[in-house]
Amino acid sequence: MAQLADRAFAATFKRIFTFSLLYEDSEVDNRVLGLDQRSRVLAVSGAGCGVAGLLAAHPARIDAIDTNPHHLALAALKVAAARRVRSHAEFYELLGRGRHGDPEQTLRPLMNGLPDWVGRYWSTNYRRFQRNLYAEGLAGTFQRWLRRKVGLDADFLRALHRLPPADRLARLAPIFASIKGSVPIRTVVNTPLFLLGIGVNFEQRQRNLRANAAATMMDVVAARFERLAQTDLETNWFVWVALTGEFNHDHPEAVPPYLRAESHRRSLVAPTEVGFHRASLQRMVADAAPGQWSHFSLCDVLDWLPTDAQRHLLRGIARVGGPSAVVLTRSVEDACVVDRVGLSDLYERVEPASSQASEQERTRLYGRVNLYRVIA
Ligand SMILES: C[S@@+](CC[C@H](N)C(=O)[O-])C[C@H]1O[C@@H](n2cnc3c(N)ncnc32)[C@H](O)[C@@H]1O
Repeated sequence: MAQLADRAFAATFKRIFTFSLLYEDSEVDNRVLGLDQRSRVLAVSGAGCGVAGLLAAHPARIDAIDTNPHHLALAALKVAAARRVRSHAEFYELLGRGRHGDPEQTLRPLMNGLPDWVGRYWSTNYRRFQRNLYAEGLAGTFQRWLRRKVGLDADFLRALHRLPPADRLARLAPIFASIKGSVPIRTVVNTPLFLLGIGVNFEQRQRNLRANAAATMMDVVAARFERLAQTDLETNWFVWVALTGEFNHDHPEAVPPYLRAESHRRSLVAPTEVGFHRASLQRMVADAAPGQWSHFSLCDVLDWLPTDAQRHLLRGIARVGGPSAVVLTRSVEDACVVDRVGLSDLYERVEPASSQASEQERTRLYGRVNLYRVIA
């Protein structure tokens, strides 16, 4: 039954533009992946902040894949802009502020060398930059609606940041109570539409409920807000976008790494070949030859799969990557997926990198960020 629901979820999700921002901390990825000029990466793109962030390490090749063409087209645009828009100010205007006075003219030359369908996509969707890219998509729409209901803004966030973490929860308690007590918010948060808006399928929803010992998604959301409130709120770009619709433009590190000046400078001279594939991870891995990639960056796709499919995919990745290939994956669970699916003879978890990454991940959406290495 859950698998049937997830087939319907996947078929719907891939038609919808949900995310303008990757809800994963790509600063953590850059720290743990250990890429160099020989690395060849297969990476699930989501909204593409992570894929664009890999360019600064100058890997030999990146193959970005996603089943959702909206997300993959945005990833292709982020990569092309990081490599070709020479002025950091203009690059930041487009993808940091998410606005541009003349997006149609600016996007057109960036389409050279990208798949034709990406060019067609942006020739009809460039208007997203006339308003604010980060208020667009299903996630952006939910966040705008929530902001209107709750009424928080940048001044509130700055004031909250100045409080010691323990006092922040006291300050937030009445706001959490009003969110939990709001019938419209509670109703929306517990619907499948909300799951689409946060990119959580039914399999991952169950994992979330178990991991948080929660009865409803509303409880999960409340637990996450509390964890988020303890982070460095000045630079936590996920909190800023959710509560204000903008990054904190006053702080150069309050944006995904690919947008920062130093990363952009390195991306402009990256020798990396990049391919974009509208395909499932399972299909790409099944069709690949041994040795095709050395690094696999999976986002939280494993969480969307039932146990048998997780095992099958991890076996396939080990076949393609071979000994010492590296796999980066996020899960809402604390459990080690490799142990859970019985593949601890094939993979080892890289420590302390995995535990440090899990602690540093500032979305606070995941129980673990794990780096695995193929051992046989
Ligand atoms: C798993 S989703 C979850 C949300 C994610 N944490 C984020 O911030 O984008 C991330 C991306 O994976 C894509 N995806 C999901 N299952 C996939 C699969 N089997 N193969 C390729 N891409 C997949 C989705 O289309 C989405 O763009």
